[in-house]
Amino acid sequence: MKIASVVNGKRQEMEVADNTLLLDWLRNELGLTGTKQSCEVQVCGVCTVLIDGVPVSGCTTLAVEARDSDVTTIEGLRGTDFYKRAEGVFMRHSAVQCGFCSPGFILTVYTLVNAGRKLSQNEIKEALNGNLCRCTGYKSIIEAAVEVIGAELARKI
Ligand code: FES
Ligand code: FES
Repeated sequence: MKIASVVNGKRQEMEVADNTLLLDWLRNELGLTGTKQSCEVQVCGVCTVLIDGVPVSGCTTLAVEARDSDVTTIEGLRGTDFYKRAEGVFMRHSAVQCGFCSPGFILTVYTLVNAGRKLSQNEIKEALNGNLCRCTGYKSIIEAAVEVIGAELARKI
C-alpha cells in the first residue's frame, strides 16, 4: 500500500507492505534509528513515537496506521529548544547512562508538556510507567522529568 505521511516535518510517500511495522519503516526505510527496538511487545517504550502528537509503540503499530498523519520521532525534536533544555536537565540529574531508553522518555515527557496540565510527581511516575530503563534507575529519571515538565509549563504561562 502506498502511504503518505509527514515525518518530522518532511513529506514521505512510499509503498509499504500491509504488515510493515511503523518501527521498521522508520528505522529501515527512513533511517530514523533514534527510535529503538527491544521488547517488540509494547512493554519497554523504547520505540515510542508520536502520531499526530499521540505517543504510540512503533513495535505494535503498522506503518499504514500512520498514513495521512504527522509522525514525530526523537530526530524531529533534536534541535528544538525543548530538546536542548530537556537534554540539559536529564544530564544534570544523571538520568542518562547508555541512553537507549532516553528517546522514549523524552518523547513521553514532551507529550506531557504539550498536554499543558500541571501534574503531581505520582502522576508523572504513572505516565512514565510504559518506559523502562535497564541501567540508570528511575529516581533520577523521574526527578529530571518532574523538573522538565514543571519548567516547560512555567514557560507557557
Ligand atoms: S520495542 Fe516497542 S515497546 Fe519495547
Ligand atoms: S539509560 Fe540505559 S536503558 Fe536507560
